[in-house]
Amino acid sequence: MNSIAITNQKGGVGKTTTTATLGAILADQGLNVLLVDLDPQASLTQLFTHNAVEKTMADVLGSSQEGTLTLSEVIQPIRDNLSLAPSNIRLSASELGLVSRWGRETLLKGAFSSLVDYDLVLIDCPPSIGLLTANGLVAAQGVIVPSLPAEADLWGVKLLLDTLGRVQSEGLNPDIDVLGILIVQYDGRTNEHKRIVGVVNAEDQPLLGVIPRSVKVQEAVAAKKPITDYAPDSKPAQAYFSVAEKVTVWLKQNSASEAFMRDLRQ
Ligand SMILES: Nc1ncnc2c1ncn2[C@@H]1O[C@H](COP(=O)(O)OP(=O)(O)OP(=O)(O)O)[C@@H](O)[C@H]1O
Ligand SMILES: [Mg+2]
Repeated sequence: MNSIAITNQKGGVGKTTTTATLGAILADQGLNVLLVDLDPQASLTQLFTHNAVEKTMADVLGSSQEGTLTLSEVIQPIRDNLSLAPSNIRLSASELGLVSRWGRETLLKGAFSSLVDYDLVLIDCPPSIGLLTANGLVAAQGVIVPSLPAEADLWGVKLLLDTLGRVQSEGLNPDIDVLGILIVQYDGRTNEHKRIVGVVNAEDQPLLGVIPRSVKVQEAVAAKKPITDYAPDSKPAQAYFSVAEKVTVWLKQNSASEAFMRDLRQ
C-alpha cells in the first residue's frame, strides 16, 4: 500500500487543501483512496463531515496507553472510492501522552499494516514537527511539501527537509521519497513569487507544481467541497489536476519497485 504525507511545520500553507483535492481527484479517477487526518485542528475532517465525529485517530494511536480502536473501526466513507480516518481535538492530548510510549513514532505505520483495501493513503499532517508528524513521516513512502511563495517559507521547507534527512539517516524510514515541493497561493503578477519558483526549480528537490491563488479555493472550503468539484475549470483546480497526474506516475513507479523488491525477497 502506498502512502504520502502532506507536511510542513508551518501553518496555513495548503496542506489540508492539497490532501482533500488530490484525494478527490484520484478517487474520481478510480483509485481507492484513504485520507488520514493527523491534525488535532481537524480541518480535513470538518471539510468532509457534517456532524461531530466520535471515533477518531486519537482512539487509534492512543495516548500514554495503547489505542482502543483499530484504524478500520474509525474510517468513514466520504464518497465513491474516498474514505476518511477523522481527527478531533482529543488528538492533541494523545500526542502529549505518546511521549512515554515505546515505538511512539511507528504507531501509525503499525495501524496501516492491517489495511488492504486502499491504493493510496494521503496523510494530512499538523503544522508542527512533533510525534504526530513523525508518525506520518515514518508511515509514508512519499512526501509532498506545500509552501507559500515567500523567502521565509522556503527556510521552513529547508528545515523540514533536514528533518526528513534525519528520519532517513536514523533508520526510521530510510527510503522515504520527496515527491516535491508544491508552491501554493501563487500570483504570477508578483515578481517575488516568480523568483521563488525559480529558486525551488534550481534546488535539488523537485518542484511538484504551482497552484495559483484564487478566492475560489476559499469559496470551495465554505461550500465544503474540493476546488475540483466547486470550480473544476478554475486555474487552481487545473493545476491540482496536473499535480495528480504526477502523483499517479510516482505511484506507478513506486508500486513497480515495491513489486520488484517483493520478488527479490521471495
Ligand atoms: N490556492 C489557494 N488560493 C487561495 N487560498 C488558498 C489556496 N490554497 C489554500 N488557500 C487557503 O489558505 C488557507 C490555509 O490552507 P490550508 O488549510 O489548506 O493550509 P494548512 O497548511 O492545512 O493549514 P494548517 O497548518 O493550519 O493545517 C485556507 O483558508 C485555504 O482556503
Ligand atoms: Mg491543515
